[in-house]
This record gives sequence, structure tokens and C-alpha cells, in this order.
Amino acid sequence: MKPINSHNYSIYFKESGYDKLNELIIKNKYSKIFVLVDENIELYCLNIFKSQVINQFTLIRIDSGEKNKNLSTCTKVWDFLNKNNADRKSILINLGGGVITDLGGFIASTYKRGVDFINIPTTLLSIVDASVGSKTGINYDSLKNQIGTFSDPKLVIIDDKYLDSLDERNKISGYAEIFKHSLISGNLFDELVSNSNTLYNDKIIYNSIKVKNDIVKKDREESSIRKSLNFGHTIGHAIESLKMSTNNELLHGEAIASGIIIELYISHLTLGFPLEKVELCKKHINSLFPKIKLTNNEITKLYQLMKFDKKNYKDNTNFVLLKDVGSYIIDQTVIKDSIDAGINYYLNN
Ligand SMILES: NC(=O)c1ccc[n+]([C@@H]2O[C@H](COP(=O)([O-])OP(=O)(O)OC[C@H]3O[C@@H](n4cnc5c(N)ncnc54)[C@H](O)[C@@H]3O)[C@@H](O)[C@H]2O)c1
Repeated sequence: MKPINSHNYSIYFKESGYDKLNELIIKNKYSKIFVLVDENIELYCLNIFKSQVINQFTLIRIDSGEKNKNLSTCTKVWDFLNKNNADRKSILINLGGGVITDLGGFIASTYKRGVDFINIPTTLLSIVDASVGSKTGINYDSLKNQIGTFSDPKLVIIDDKYLDSLDERNKISGYAEIFKHSLISGNLFDELVSNSNTLYNDKIIYNSIKVKNDIVKKDREESSIRKSLNFGHTIGHAIESLKMSTNNELLHGEAIASGIIIELYISHLTLGFPLEKVELCKKHINSLFPKIKLTNNEITKLYQLMKFDKKNYKDNTNFVLLKDVGSYIIDQTVIKDSIDAGINYYLNN
């Protein structure tokens, strides 16, 4: 598969990615190579990585999970880098899911005002979304991605071999972003919506990354069209934050899938998105994702959480809405009645 070029870096597929990585390490004469993983990556993915990379490296292991995408983990890793004599010519390789690539990218982009980093995503979600697009970040004060940077990796390696060990729930979670990419671009929509059996293959992965990358290349800092990638996320992130650190903690894609259904219905009410397509998408999503329950109390909290959405401006909650598949409009203010209706549509159907 041909590499996909972003502005300052490229996304390489399979063996060609490791060739580029080995070349880069030789060319840049890095003083030290650090590889950031969590315990699952160490167990399931590190051997694949080791078999492809020629250089010695120092492993940094953190505890897995969204709850560890925080400042306290950053502090531990920065301490580790200090103790292991990392300098500005060191490189950090983020081998893992979106938690590792987000957190590792943030750590690298701030350590000594920025050291090089590379993303090697190992979950479907990080392959099609988190590892590309140059957003790094951590959660803060129970709010998703509240602190972070825009920072480019030196390169990204996409290798779906890592997915062999990933559990089904996490694969389905990643699919939420694939489906969102098809909704906003129209790319592969008919193929995906009519088939709940194939979550990914080379073509689906390539297309999904390309949709995201084409948008990011035009608007890296999200002042305009990059906001389209937040379709489903205004409500989805609020639901994710709401359930964070509870007994019913959700995976990112699970929250986003519910957000997609709710925001499709709001799109129908606000912009006339065809109801039959809302129904089609809902059926498809419900065939894959668990239904999330929300109490009245939680719905009240959702509105408070939406106030922190990064797309907001001057106290308005801004949505990305769709007129149709492949046709989005950003910066839409939505009345509360329509948001209520969207939530009710999701909960009661
Ligand atoms: N930066 C962005 O643009 C962007 C975009 C989307 C999502 N995100 C972020 O990504 C994060 C979610 O990423 P995620 O879903 O990959 O979660 P994750 O990184 O927590 O990984 C999910 C679980 O799978 C395990 N795992 C990872 N790869 C594995 C493999 N190959 N085999 C077995 N187990 C494996 C991990 O240890 C973890 O327990 C969220 O924090 C979200 O905010 C960022």
C-alpha cells in the first residue's frame, strides 16, 4: 500500500514502515531510543515490534487504560526519562493504543521543549484515528483531552498484525471512528452500513486513514473543517466523560457510536438529514454496540459536560451536523429541545 503523506510526516504500511523507521534511526543518530508501552502491549505486541527493529531500546511501561491518561502518568514517564539520561536527541516510540499515542505524543512534545516521537498504533481505533492527525493529550479533572498539544510524529507505522491479539470489544470500539469517517465523507458508506460482519480490512483501514488525513492536511489546528471529525463527539465525549471512573466505564468508540446516533437524529431535525438513513445507521450501530443507559440525572449532567466541548465558542455548544451522508456543516448551534429529542430517540429505539 502506498504511503499516505501528511504535512510534515508520512504514514507507512506494514514492512515499509519498519524499513523507514530503521532508516530514520540511522540517519538521525538518536542518542537514546525509548519505547512506551502498557502491560498488554508488552505481552502481545512487543515481540512483533522487536522482530522488525534493529536497534536496542529502553522500554517504558505504564499501566493500561484511559484512567491512566493523566498528569500523574506523565510525571512518572518524565521522571523515568530524566533518570535514564534522555536528551533532546532522544526519540520516543509510542507502541500501543490511543492512550499510548495520545499520552506519549504529549510527553514527547513537551519534554525538553519537544523530542521526536513515532506512533505505532496497535488498536483499530488508534490505527484509523488516534495515531494520525497530530493531536496529543491527556485527560484532566475528569474532562477528556483537556490538556494537550498539536505535534507531528516523525512517522506512523500501520501494521494490522497487532490487531490479531486485540479483543472484539476494542475492535468494535475502533469501528465507530471508521463508520464516522464514512458518514462525513460518503466514502465506503453503502458498503459499511450494509455489512456488520467485516469491521476492517486493508481497504477499509486505508480509506479511513485517508479521509482523516485529507481533512487534517487542510486544517491541522481545527479552525474550520477539521471540526467535521468531531461528528458524534459533542454528545459522545460528554457520555464518555460521564461514565469515566464509574462501574460502567465505556470504551471511546462505544460512547461515540451512541453520539453518532443522537447527532444523526439532531441532524435530521435541524438540517433535514434523511430519516431513513438515520434509521439505517441506528440499526447498523445497534447491531454492533451495546446500548448505553442514561438516567435523568445523568442527562442533566450531560448538558454540563457539553459546555466543556472544545468546539464551543462564547458559551454556545457547537455541533457538527450532516445534511446528508458526505455533506457536513460545522458550527451549528442546536436548541435544547432538539438535543433532548436526539437523546430520547437513542434511548427509546
Ligand atoms: N489524538 C486523537 O486524534 C484521538 C482520536 C481518537 C481517539 N483518541 C484517544 O484514544 C484513546 C482510546 O484509544 P484505544 O481505544 O486504542 O484505547 P487503549 O489505548 O486504552 O487500548 C485499549 C486496550 O487494548 C489494549 N491493547 C492495545 N493494543 C492491543 C493489542 N494489539 N492486543 C491486545 N491488547 C491491546 C490496551 O492495553 C488497552 O487495555 C482515548 O483516550 C481517545 O481520547 C485520540
